[in-house]
Amino acid sequence: MQHWPYPKLFAHRGGGNLAPENTLPGMQKALALRFSAVEFDVKLTADNVSIVIHDDTLERTSNGEGALAELDYEQLDGIDAGSWKGVEFAGTPVPRFSDIASFCITELMFANVEIKPCPGREQETGKQVAQEAARYWQRERTPPLLSSFSEVALLAARKAAPDLPRGLLIHEWVEDWGTRLRALDAVSLHCNHEILTAQRVADIHAAGYRVLAYTVNDKRRAQQLIDWGVDGLFTDELESLPAALAMASD
Ligand code: G3P
Ligand code: MG
Repeated sequence: MQHWPYPKLFAHRGGGNLAPENTLPGMQKALALRFSAVEFDVKLTADNVSIVIHDDTLERTSNGEGALAELDYEQLDGIDAGSWKGVEFAGTPVPRFSDIASFCITELMFANVEIKPCPGREQETGKQVAQEAARYWQRERTPPLLSSFSEVALLAARKAAPDLPRGLLIHEWVEDWGTRLRALDAVSLHCNHEILTAQRVADIHAAGYRVLAYTVNDKRRAQQLIDWGVDGLFTDELESLPAALAMASD
């Protein structure tokens, strides 16, 4: 297996459950709690600005409305993506990918950039996010790890920035994971933790790939996955999980 520069724990959507997801305050929370890696989701606005947000629509995580595939970036101006999580986050904007990339680079945080295209925009999103990532991190020692549930997006990312490592996300188990990873020239399989078993982790490793698991918030499950040799966990439990795992390894 190739050298793997990333730490075991990734703060999921930036701040896990402590801050509005996919925002700068979330990334700052992860940093303050001594996380050295963050995962976040990137998609394109209608006018092709890369922004950091999970859903295809604004409603759940902001006071805005509408589908991102139909909104230009300037229409996000003034939208509050923080208040839903708490008054202390009022006024937090939907960040641009470039803002979060700058933060990660300045603070020396490892990044997992999940390419999360709006439906029908898989290819262009994969291409653009990979090109931007290659540019932002061009002087850095460790590249961001790109990932996606969309194999179309990952193929476009491969073409646009072949040197950036890629991971395939799967929610349900697929028997042909090896064929898929080979086709993408990927380095890792990022699995819903519920579909992982010790045997599957061993099989993925034996084929030369890393295994990451999302979203792991239960301490005992996290320890079990680590005992099986899982290479990375995405967690929302930024306070309790690292402490529990550290205690277990004492
Ligand atoms: O990349 C791991 C995880 O974030 C995938 O699921 O829905 O939280 O983006 P989701
Ligand atoms: Mg994600």
